Amino acid sequence: MVKLGVNIDHIASIRNLRKGVFPDPVFAAKIAEDAGADGITVHLREDRRHINDGDVKNLKRIIKTKLNLEMSVSADIVAFAKKIVPDYVCLVPEKRQELTTEGGLDIISNKKKIEEVVSELKNKKIVVSIFIDPDFEQINIAKKIGADFVELHTGNYADAKNKIIRKKELAKIQKASEYVLQLDLGLNAGHGLDYENVQGIAKIRGMNELNIGYSIICRAVFVGFFQAVKEMKEKIKNK
Ligand code: PXP
Repeated sequence: MVKLGVNIDHIASIRNLRKGVFPDPVFAAKIAEDAGADGITVHLREDRRHINDGDVKNLKRIIKTKLNLEMSVSADIVAFAKKIVPDYVCLVPEKRQELTTEGGLDIISNKKKIEEVVSELKNKKIVVSIFIDPDFEQINIAKKIGADFVELHTGNYADAKNKIIRKKELAKIQKASEYVLQLDLGLNAGHGLDYENVQGIAKIRGMNELNIGYSIICRAVFVGFFQAVKEMKEKIKNK
């Protein structure tokens, strides 16, 4: 069964609009777990625009499933992760000005640095994933530098302007997924997935987990967070 990792960053984005304490990401995490989430994902950004250090600490203490920490390879964030020891770390690229992550991490140009970080995290017994584009060369390097998983970037598939482009992007992800499995890496995917487009990705052979945030939070505004998570879980199950 394909797992659902629920990204709760934007619960914290809403909280931070008024710089208060509601809605509480930890409360959201518990609801997501009750609704069937297999894991909770948060991105601790360098500018702390949504999730902050305290949230990660509280989540680590309270959640019953798995905590997946998305993060850049910057030294202070790596030091924080080594202290907290989440179940999983997913290394992502990060630009200050971006609205959201814009693509996969380029491990070809940053190989040495990323390899060091992977090794430091693995020494702490953290399972390490790297968020990359569906590109064979990036997958090769992920394997070489010791990643346990890759998370394939589905943003271009999700944002495709028409059916032809979407089909092409899906084929790229399908081929890349086959290659990931051939290299004996774990296979996750995410970014931009919603109730309409998720099944194409959930159907891919060997898919372990999908990390989904924004579309679930948007749906929650109308049907409640529990129901929104439950509906996504159903979509993935009935792919
Ligand atoms: N996976 C990764 C690596 C991400 O950076 C994000 C966005 O934080 C997601 C999944 C979730 O993307 P979305 O919010 O578009 O569902």
